[in-house]
Amino acid sequence: MRVGKLEKDIVAGAPLMRLDEDESCVALGLMSGTSMDGIDAAVMEADGVARFEVLGHFHRPYEEETRDLIRRACADARAAHEAGTLTNRWQRPGCLMEADEALTKVHIDFAREVMAEMEKRGHKVRLLGMHGHTVLHAPEKGITIQLADGDEVAQQVGETVIWDMRAHDMEHGGQGAPLAPAWHMALAQRLPMRPVMFVNIGGVANVTWIGEEGEDPHAFDAGPGNALMDDLVREKTGAPFDRDGALAAKGVVNEDALRALLAQAPLHAAPPRSFDRHAFDASPVADLPPEDALATLCRFTAKAIAQTVEWLPRPPETWVVTGGGRHNRTLMAMLAEEVPQGAVVPAEVMELNGDHMEAEAWAWLAVRALKRLPITWPSTTGVDRPRSGGVFTWPRFAPPMEKGV
Ligand SMILES: Nc1ncnc2c1ncn2[C@@H]1O[C@H](COP(=O)(O)OP(=O)(O)O)[C@@H](O)[C@H]1O
Ligand SMILES: [Mg+2]
Repeated sequence: MRVGKLEKDIVAGAPLMRLDEDESCVALGLMSGTSMDGIDAAVMEADGVARFEVLGHFHRPYEEETRDLIRRACADARAAHEAGTLTNRWQRPGCLMEADEALTKVHIDFAREVMAEMEKRGHKVRLLGMHGHTVLHAPEKGITIQLADGDEVAQQVGETVIWDMRAHDMEHGGQGAPLAPAWHMALAQRLPMRPVMFVNIGGVANVTWIGEEGEDPHAFDAGPGNALMDDLVREKTGAPFDRDGALAAKGVVNEDALRALLAQAPLHAAPPRSFDRHAFDASPVADLPPEDALATLCRFTAKAIAQTVEWLPRPPETWVVTGGGRHNRTLMAMLAEEVPQGAVVPAEVMELNGDHMEAEAWAWLAVRALKRLPITWPSTTGVDRPRSGGVFTWPRFAPPMEKGV
């Protein structure tokens, strides 16, 4: 494999991480989703083409203080964006620098802990794929900002980190999202049903449709995920989310509010499309009793996901649901009612891990990126042609004993 011009950029010290075409490595994926619940980690041995073995899953919840800081960073990023002063992804207005540093530190601590644990289990992590935390995603302006500094993580953990994986796609006409489809395609190789749909319900909901061999996958953001419901529950009760959808189950859907929610423009845009956590407005339910407001938001979320069939070649035969939203029983029941056909099942029914699929995706994407294989396609992000991506950072000063320098 040719590493290309990046090879020349290395300052000194550590041997370059490289993989031959058919070689595997142990990779760690780190994902901090828009729900701000914490960082998910997954470790796999993979060749990025077809072979993979998932070796471990881990989660580190954020301290309330960190969560608050991220929330403020999202608000500051949005304010700067709306004021027109945020023009590139390296700017850190307001408290973004503080949040960047805090998130970098949590990523380093967590990565070290996971790597030490994996080493005890006999697996040496050689590559990290890091998502960071999105504080702004504005594909129409070509800007997406993920906090946590992959360069610093590489220096501190002493292994190669591939990060900032959305930017290259956006520079070439893509939405920079969704990125998990590359991994869904690998997983689908082990599933018999076609077409199969992966539905990830995180802060935002996104779908990946996979048809028969030779058909392009289709992937795009569906609409809101848990974000609107989480915000409402937090405001009304102080709880971080509506556990199991219990409150929503007690409410009655308000049809007028539902119509107003469903009329929002982003839902009617054809793919490729990707949404910021704040792309949707929950004000139509603002004056309803909390249970009714939640029931209405739940129905809205389910309908938005089911309506994605409008842009697909054929309705899926099976809807495999991942992400925290699959724990919301009311939402799952409503989704089953709304889909035109096919079964709606949580990922576990397919023996997949629904809480860590995105972290797994980042490990897989890192291996693919290292081999310069495509991670996005015209039919997943709208990018001009299949593209690889990611910013690569090698540790400049590797721990001497480990590297044998
Ligand atoms: N038991 C549960 N009942 C209802 N919702 C849940 C439950 N567990 C998690 N969630 C929802 O899942 C969200 C976290 O999902 P996750 O997939 O991690 O999203 P993200 O990728 O955006 O971080 C929580 O904010 C919450 O809304
Ligand atoms: Mg999460």
